Amino acid sequence: MKYKFETAALSKIKSDIVVVGVFQGEDLGNVIGGIDQTLANGSGNFAGSIAEAASHDAFAGKASQVVSLQTYDNLACKKLILVGLGSSKDFKPSVSRKLAANMARRFANSTMTSICFYGRFTQEEEHEDNSKKRKKSGAAGKAAPAEKSTSDKETEVAQHLKAMVEGWNLGRYSFEKYKSQKDDKKSKSEMTLSFAGIKESKMATKACSIGDTIAGATNLARGLIAEPASYMTPTRLADEAKRIAKEYDLTCKIIDAAQAEKLGMGAFLGVAKGAAEPAKFIVLKYEADKSKKTVAIIGKGITFDSGGLSLKPALGMEHMKYDMSGAAAVLGAMQVIGDLKPNVSVLGLIAATENMPGNNALHPGDVLISMNGKTIEVNNTDAEGRLVLADALTYASRQNVDEMIDLATLTGAVVTALGRVAAGIMGTNQELVDKLIAAGKDAGENLWQLPLYDEYKDTLKSDIADLKNAGARGEAASSSAAMFLKEFVDGKPWAHLDIAGPGWMDKDRDECNKGGTAFGVRTICQYILNYA
Ligand code: BES
Ligand code: MN
Ligand code: ZN
Repeated sequence: MKYKFETAALSKIKSDIVVVGVFQGEDLGNVIGGIDQTLANGSGNFAGSIAEAASHDAFAGKASQVVSLQTYDNLACKKLILVGLGSSKDFKPSVSRKLAANMARRFANSTMTSICFYGRFTQEEEHEDNSKKRKKSGAAGKAAPAEKSTSDKETEVAQHLKAMVEGWNLGRYSFEKYKSQKDDKKSKSEMTLSFAGIKESKMATKACSIGDTIAGATNLARGLIAEPASYMTPTRLADEAKRIAKEYDLTCKIIDAAQAEKLGMGAFLGVAKGAAEPAKFIVLKYEADKSKKTVAIIGKGITFDSGGLSLKPALGMEHMKYDMSGAAAVLGAMQVIGDLKPNVSVLGLIAATENMPGNNALHPGDVLISMNGKTIEVNNTDAEGRLVLADALTYASRQNVDEMIDLATLTGAVVTALGRVAAGIMGTNQELVDKLIAAGKDAGENLWQLPLYDEYKDTLKSDIADLKNAGARGEAASSSAAMFLKEFVDGKPWAHLDIAGPGWMDKDRDECNKGGTAFGVRTICQYILNYA
């Protein structure tokens, strides 16, 4: 997609729709008049009329408040949309991202073909009312905010642009492969997007293109998750990895069951036993030219989780096609990394298999020998994610990587604890955890740290093996699952993202559309590109 930078004044912008963001408490007439003097001065004071019309809907610039006004030829655009940005001091790229996503969804079926965001891209524009108030109160307590340098402002603008492009492309996504009636969504491919209120620059264009790349890869990953399990098999995940490798010049190796057996991946293969579909262990590698370090990203790739013989109840089982969301996130992130070529090397690993109760399925009570030699009593075949990840972590730890990050829809308990609002993050290295949380903030994905107290290991004690795979029912299941994984990281800095909650949405919410969200792509990309 091509992004245009609009230079015309607000009244002259020819896009069908113009969106103007307004901070909470700002005087709308001043905002509009400030953007385009002619609207305040011209006959009839149109800026004032806009403000009055908005006041009828009690528009006050509160977060996600929207007023839509027809312009009836008073402006060059057909529709003027006023959107609340909330408090100016809380204004962040994630606000811009949400706004763009909600606009994309609002106009998904519109016959209009162009939209222009009139940018309020930085926090610094203190509106008059506030600064007056501050002066009145003597400005005794709070010092005036320090002037931002030009480059700070530029980066801030760039972050907002990137976020808006992401939000726009994420919000308009839908998976329609199996719908016979597709044409009412035709406008989706046609709407052009432009930004006003900022100058076109190399930085701005680049920011848009990065946002485009990340959103594209996220949507790719969403498509993989949306596919039914009968289609999105481990083999198809492997094909997708091969396609990405070919297109973006990564190396790709697919380890099949026979080779996995030779490598001693007994935990991974144990899970695969009940499935007719062949398991695949996928290895993607991006080798940076001047590599600072190597990060391993590891995805849980259970293409369907029936629970195995510890069968899940029927209610909601159809959602368990999203149990490969970690794998999808790894594929999405590897596509971005292959495209943007950062100076950090990345090893992408996916342990892909179904978890099925077939003839040869694991019996509850079976003992598996994992790749690092630890024996595992499988007291619950539905705790399969940690089994496949155990061998993936061991594999990663032997590949000369500096740190390991896994993404997995690992526990129902994390959904109970954090809902669909945040992923749980746990790890052995606080610096890595902190950086991932910060990257998530930038990227609009919430990560909330859960503890890894040593005591959680007690619940994984087995009478006959080194470990059992499922801890005490109903007790800190997300932490004990992570504690299990920790047994396989071999001392490497490691973080685990339990994405079971935000990985799936029951309804649209901002840039996260209903269905599989591909949570993690944005955080991982942000981490690799800006923090690693
Ligand atoms: N894939 C599930 C976790 C899950 C549950 C994801 C609900 C999304 C929504 C995982 O394999 C699983 O079944 N975990 C069990 C572990 C238990 C048996 C220790 C769980 O969370 O109930
Ligand atoms: Mn399970
Ligand atoms: Zn699972």
